[in-house]
Amino acid sequence: MTDFSAWTQACQARVERVLAEWLPPSDIAPKRLHEAMRYAVLGGGKRVRPLLAFAAGEVTGAAVEQVQHAAAAVELIHAYSLVHDDMPAMDDDALRRGKPTVHVEFDEATALLVGDALQSLAFEILAAQPLGGDATRQIGMIGALARACGSRGMAGGQAIDLANVGKALDLTELEFMHIHKTGALIRASVLLGAECGRLSAPDRAALDHYAKCIGLAFQIVDDVLDAEVPTATLGKTAGKDAANNKPTYVSLLGAARARELAFELRADACAALDPLGPTARRLRELADFVVERTF
Ligand code: IPE
Ligand code: IPE
Ligand code: MG
Ligand code: MG
Ligand code: MG
Repeated sequence: MTDFSAWTQACQARVERVLAEWLPPSDIAPKRLHEAMRYAVLGGGKRVRPLLAFAAGEVTGAAVEQVQHAAAAVELIHAYSLVHDDMPAMDDDALRRGKPTVHVEFDEATALLVGDALQSLAFEILAAQPLGGDATRQIGMIGALARACGSRGMAGGQAIDLANVGKALDLTELEFMHIHKTGALIRASVLLGAECGRLSAPDRAALDHYAKCIGLAFQIVDDVLDAEVPTATLGKTAGKDAANNKPTYVSLLGAARARELAFELRADACAALDPLGPTARRLRELADFVVERTF
């Protein structure tokens, strides 16, 4: 086992514990909603956003006991976005993280409410205890996450995605969609992790540049994997973008050029980390993971 895989496993186990503690137990009313929330969040996913938060926290000397709450919050927002993304009104997917989607396993109304409740739980966690700095900084973190998932962030990107089914977007429009629907939350994940420690203005700019590049690369690779990797490996239905007539980097550029672009973005992301030295090691490794992953 490489050192990087030991580190990711430790972070994944840590965020899993925090999530399991924060999510209401399924024997407490409303039991079905709580059961569905736990079903949506626990025991699955790559946990890339938490990993980015932990890695960014290493750059700023943050305590993992604090970063873990930011990590749980961004994962809850992500899990909520997946539950809604899979619903019939959006991508209409039946499989997620190797299991039936929440609206299939439970029902549509429950899936809507799971998303609602996971989103508020994320903010409840961020407001619940001190996260590294003073209260003003913490309010800033809460505001940053709120913006990242709102209409000028993730929800806005999803709206653009849905408005463009069956349409051909040009590269600028596609990039705009991807940096909103996926990039914004990835940027917030890096920022929140870093903010749990001591973050200087130049380091903030460097980390933000890294996060912007990695956020876009993440969704480009997601588009490529959708076209190239089988359902069994993905844990979600392969070929869905083409089936749903979505404009993607693959439909516009082809998979090979899309992949190249992701590699270029990795180079750009990692160049931004140069001034940060060895503390940014995990962020470099995560950049490799994001563009080289097969699921
Ligand atoms: C899938 O995200 C949806 C996108 C934003 C591309 P992930 O690939 O991070 O999904 P999980 O969390 O590992 O299941
Ligand atoms: C999802 O993009 C982005 C968000 C959930 C915000 P996709 O629709 O491509 O994600 P997958 O492929 O279903 O995981
Ligand atoms: Mg979608
Ligand atoms: Mg989808
Ligand atoms: Mg996809």
